[in-house]
Amino acid sequence: MNYNKKTVKDVDVKGKKVLLRCDFNVPMAKDGSGVITDDKRIRAALPTIQYLLDQGAAVIACSHMGKPVPSFDKWVKKQAEKGKDPASLTEEKWKKSLDELRMEPVAARLSELLGRKVILAGDVVGPDAQAKAAALKGGEIMLLQNTRFEKGETKNDPELAGKMAGLAGENGVYVSDAFGAVHRAHASTAGVADYLPAVSGFLIQKELDFIGGALANPKRPLVAILGGSKVSSKIGVINNLLEIADTIIIGGGMAYTFSAARGGKVGDSLLEADWKDYSLEMIQKAKDKGVKLLLPVDTVIADKFAPDAESKVVKAGEIPDSWQGLDIGPETVKLYCDAVKDAGTVIWNGPMGVFEFDKFAVGTKAVAEALSETSAITIIGGGDSAAAVQQLGYAGKMTHISTGGGASLEFMEGKELPGVACLLDQ
Ligand code: 3PG
Repeated sequence: MNYNKKTVKDVDVKGKKVLLRCDFNVPMAKDGSGVITDDKRIRAALPTIQYLLDQGAAVIACSHMGKPVPSFDKWVKKQAEKGKDPASLTEEKWKKSLDELRMEPVAARLSELLGRKVILAGDVVGPDAQAKAAALKGGEIMLLQNTRFEKGETKNDPELAGKMAGLAGENGVYVSDAFGAVHRAHASTAGVADYLPAVSGFLIQKELDFIGGALANPKRPLVAILGGSKVSSKIGVINNLLEIADTIIIGGGMAYTFSAARGGKVGDSLLEADWKDYSLEMIQKAKDKGVKLLLPVDTVIADKFAPDAESKVVKAGEIPDSWQGLDIGPETVKLYCDAVKDAGTVIWNGPMGVFEFDKFAVGTKAVAEALSETSAITIIGGGDSAAAVQQLGYAGKMTHISTGGGASLEFMEGKELPGVACLLDQ
C-alpha cells in the first residue's frame, strides 16, 4: 500500500467547504449522562481543524459514535440474540439507545477546546444538515450527527456518500483525519472519496509516518512486543511482523496458548486450544526467518481472576491445576527489558498481563518503563496498550501512541486500509 498521500497542505481550501471525517468515537460515562471520559481523540483532531479554519475553509466535520442500529427491527433482533426478553424491547428503548449516541457532547467539548462555536446539525444528510452546510461560511465549523444513524453508512452506500459529499458543494474537498476508522470501508471513510478530491489531515499523516515508517523502513533492530489475551486476534500481526522484525516478544494471555502448544501445563489460564498448531507454526517460522522469538520463562499465577487473588511465581509451563497465569514473572521481565535496551525501534501492541489489577500490572509496567528509558523509536498500538501506557503514567515518554485500536492492528497486519487507500497519492 502506498502511504505517501496528499495532505491538507497540498490543496487549496481557502473559501471552500471541507467535509472533514474525524474519529470522535470517544468513551462516554456508562450512566447515560453524556460525560466524555477521555477526549484524546477530539484533541488529536484539533491541529487539522485549526489549520482548515485558519485557511478560511468552512469545515463540515463528521464522525461515527458507537454502534447504533438505525432500524428498529434489526435492533430487536440483535438484542434478542444477546438474550434480552423480546417483550421488553420497546421502540422507546431503541430510540433511547440512539439518543445516547448523539453528537451533542462531542460538539460541546469541541467548542470548548476550539474556543469557538460549533454548529450542530440534527441529522447527517437531511434538511437540517443541508441548510446548515449551505449557510456555513469560511472560518466556521459545523458537526453532523452520528454518521451511523444513516443505514447506508456501514454498507458504504454510494448514494449516501454522494449526499455527504454534496454538503461540501461543487468545489468541496474531503479531508480524512479519522485514523481510528480507516480500516472501515464506510460511506464517510471511503465512499465520499469517489465524489470529492480526498486528502489526509495531520493526524493520519502522523500515524502513517510513524507506523508506516516503522513497518517499511525501521531503524533496526526492530523489536515487536505483542501481548493481549488472544492469539486469534493477533495472528495477522504476528505473521506479518515475522517478515519484518528482528525480535518478537510474546506476553499476555496469548503466551499460554504458545506454552500449551509446546507441551506446557497452563492450569486455568486463558487457552485457545484451536490455535496451538498455529502457535507452533509461528515458532517454526521465526526459526526459518532468523527472527528471535521470546516467550515467557516464568509466570505470576493467581488462584482466581481477582485483584486480591493469592499469587505466586512459577516456571512457564508449570502452572498447577486451578491456578491461572495473570502476568509475566520477574525473570521474563528482565529478559524482555534487556531485549528492548538496544533496539532501534520498538512496536508494542497488547499488555503483558492483567494490568487493570495492580498486583498483576508489574510486567506491563516494567515493559513501559523500559520503553520510556530506551533511545529507540517507541510506537504504541492503540487500544489496550495505549490505555496501559496512559494509566501507568508513561504516555509522555513514548515517541508515538496511536489513536487507532483496530486500525493500528490492521495496519500492523499489513492489510490495505480503505480509508487511506482512497486518498490521493502524492
Ligand atoms: C475505534 O474505536 O476503534 C474506532 O472508532 C472504530 O470503531 P468501530 O470498531 O465501531 O468501527
